[in-house]
Amino acid sequence: MNIILLGPPGAGKGTQAKFIVDNFGMLQLSTGDMLREAKNSGSEIGKVVSEVMQRGDLVTDDIVIDLISSKIDTSSNHTGFIFDGFPRTLNQADALSKLLSIKNKPINYVIELRVNDDVLIERIIGRYSCNKCGEVYHEKNNPTKIPLICDVCGEKDNFMKRPDDNENSLKTRLMSYYKDTSPLIGYYHVKKLLKTINALDEINNVYRNIETILKSWYL
Ligand code: AP5
Repeated sequence: MNIILLGPPGAGKGTQAKFIVDNFGMLQLSTGDMLREAKNSGSEIGKVVSEVMQRGDLVTDDIVIDLISSKIDTSSNHTGFIFDGFPRTLNQADALSKLLSIKNKPINYVIELRVNDDVLIERIIGRYSCNKCGEVYHEKNNPTKIPLICDVCGEKDNFMKRPDDNENSLKTRLMSYYKDTSPLIGYYHVKKLLKTINALDEINNVYRNIETILKSWYL
């Protein structure tokens, strides 16, 4: 099974992808994570994308399509792909469709995490993650169980905030979402792949609704 998680910044794509990985054995392919990795490694691509990402603008289609294409080619031992933050433009959606049809691996569901803009600022500004293992938390909605200690790896007092998690970049990211990414809702609706979830709900309830959709594929 291959799925796409679609939603604006802070909708909960990364949070929900982790639950799906744990419960369904799928592989999360997050273009945001891949680009941050490239940035941190100081690679040529990393240098090109660093400023673009900090501003909150979209990286060019060619770069992300290449990244995704090589991950699809080199990944094994999983039950399917979770595309998180990709595609983000109609051009990327067409490219993904071509890449997957060559491999005879169609997209089964596109899950739109629907929220309203008011909660996004609060979610983005309150987000922090473990600097060692990358686990994502939220100051109010999803804090560590023991203050300052990562639930997953036990690292102490070593958390970070993303440089693009500020109000200015968020405005640009939201604008990109509405201008370039939201047309994908109609695109996948016409392809009869779209499932829309209320992502304003509590994290576990959002996951339960996603799980119901994914389980229906096996029926
Ligand atoms: P990317 O890393 O993909 O960022 P994004 O799409 O802006 O999404 P986020 O990671 O900010 O949010 P999310 O939906 O994953 O939310 P999360 O689960 O963390 O992309 C970053 C940049 O890379 C882009 O701006 C662009 O420059 C570039 N890029 C990436 N892909 C690209 C592409 N395909 N093409 C071109 N450029 C690309 O949740 C957020 C917070 O809310 C967390 O703290 C969490 O704990 C909390 N939370 C989650 N769910 C809930 C809930 N239900 N209730 C309460 N709190 C919740």
